[in-house]
Amino acid sequence: MSLIVLTSANGSPGVTTTALGLALAWPRPALLVEADPTGASGILAGYFRGEVNHTAGLIDLAMSHRQGTLAEDLPKVTMAIPGSAAQLLPGTRAHSQSRSLLPLWEPLAGALRALERTGQDVIVDAGRLGLNGAPEPLVHAADLALLVTRSTLPALAGAKSWADTLRAEFERTGASANLGLLVVGQGQPYGPREVSKVLQIPVTATLAWDPVSAEVLSRGASQPRKFESASLPRSLRAAISEIQSVLHANRAELGVTPGEGDHHV
Ligand SMILES: Nc1ncnc2c1ncn2[C@@H]1O[C@H](COP(=O)(O)OP(=O)(O)OP(=O)(O)O)[C@@H](O)[C@H]1O
Ligand SMILES: [Mg+2]
Repeated sequence: MSLIVLTSANGSPGVTTTALGLALAWPRPALLVEADPTGASGILAGYFRGEVNHTAGLIDLAMSHRQGTLAEDLPKVTMAIPGSAAQLLPGTRAHSQSRSLLPLWEPLAGALRALERTGQDVIVDAGRLGLNGAPEPLVHAADLALLVTRSTLPALAGAKSWADTLRAEFERTGASANLGLLVVGQGQPYGPREVSKVLQIPVTATLAWDPVSAEVLSRGASQPRKFESASLPRSLRAAISEIQSVLHANRAELGVTPGEGDHHV
């Protein structure tokens, strides 16, 4: 099981779209956790166009944690994402609930890790860094934390100070290899080499700039013909391979035999 956490510094670079796209194309069962403290599930309102009636979510787990039933309640609040092997754990309904989530993040990280038993990998949409109620403990518990950014100068200027902060924090805990960048719309105008040079964090993966395919994920737009061969779906599949190589290399570095912790493979 791996815990992959996506977050951003500024400007809605595509964290939710990317996290959902990765979960849908993930080669094993995945649990997508909407941990963005902004409130109101972007996925229920976006990809599902507000048409599914799933009322359970993270806020129920805050209660479960208080009652000592977090691990057993976790599978009860998720919903299947049709047409995929992925499950969704919807986020809060309102930003005012984010305060109640603060005591949840640490134990939730543990409960998500325990999903190893069910063979699920976990992909987290952590929203923007620094928000009230932000799931920082999940970012730091990640096997791979990805700072999502676009490749424009304003995006990089906005990401720089957060990149410095994250890099320092991951260095301090000896977990530098667990931090990477995911660039949405590379070459607009900067390429991965320039982005990693500016932000001083390696680029783990890049995604194509493909607004039409992105709307399928972010707004529930109908899939255009040949969607799977469009540039965003193709680059999502390539990103999954790149993410898995980093996870594999990090595990090897820690001396974990390949396959260990992957009993479901
Ligand atoms: N690869 C892409 N190519 C083109 N457009 C994209 C891509 N990824 C996302 N988008 C578009 O960018 C917009 C913002 O995406 P999204 O909501 O995923 O960002 P976010 O980082 O989660 O934002 P927020 O911080 O506000 O939650 C959406 O309109 C989405 O369709
Ligand atoms: Mg979002």
